[in-house]
Amino acid sequence: NAATEHEAEDATISQGVVESNHAGFTGRGFVNYDNLVGSYVEWTVPNTSAGPADLTFRFANGTGVNRPMNITVNGVTVANNQAFNGTGAWTTWQTATVRANVPAGNLTIRATSTTVNGGPNVDKLTVSLVDGQAPSAP
Ligand code: GCU
Repeated sequence: NAATEHEAEDATISQGVVESNHAGFTGRGFVNYDNLVGSYVEWTVPNTSAGPADLTFRFANGTGVNRPMNITVNGVTVANNQAFNGTGAWTTWQTATVRANVPAGNLTIRATSTTVNGGPNVDKLTVSLVDGQAPSAP
């Protein structure tokens, strides 16, 4: 399935910083969420056709504690407290995927931390329409 990739460091960041001190990220770095409730990264992804899409977040969590986040598309919650469990090290990157029905047009995809630990470190978002069509190029 074709997909488009969207770096967290190029997205809108509220209460987080771009860092590059833990190897294995793509692009220029990753977002280190502030350790509080409500820190978020928000991507704008152009999308050519409506339908189910896989939203895949690449992340690292070097702690042993889940760092759940709420995922919204255009302000609508598509996953409540999506788990971002410990990956074993800050340099060990894994993915978590949320499937959501998305409309055509610009998608505003936001991942917001829901605990005082903040979010995991987030590298990028990959968006893949389940019917095999890619959203339009970024
Ligand atoms: C460490 C780590 C950061 C991480 C932070 C956290 O400081 O180096 O990359 O974001 O822990 O717990 O959120």
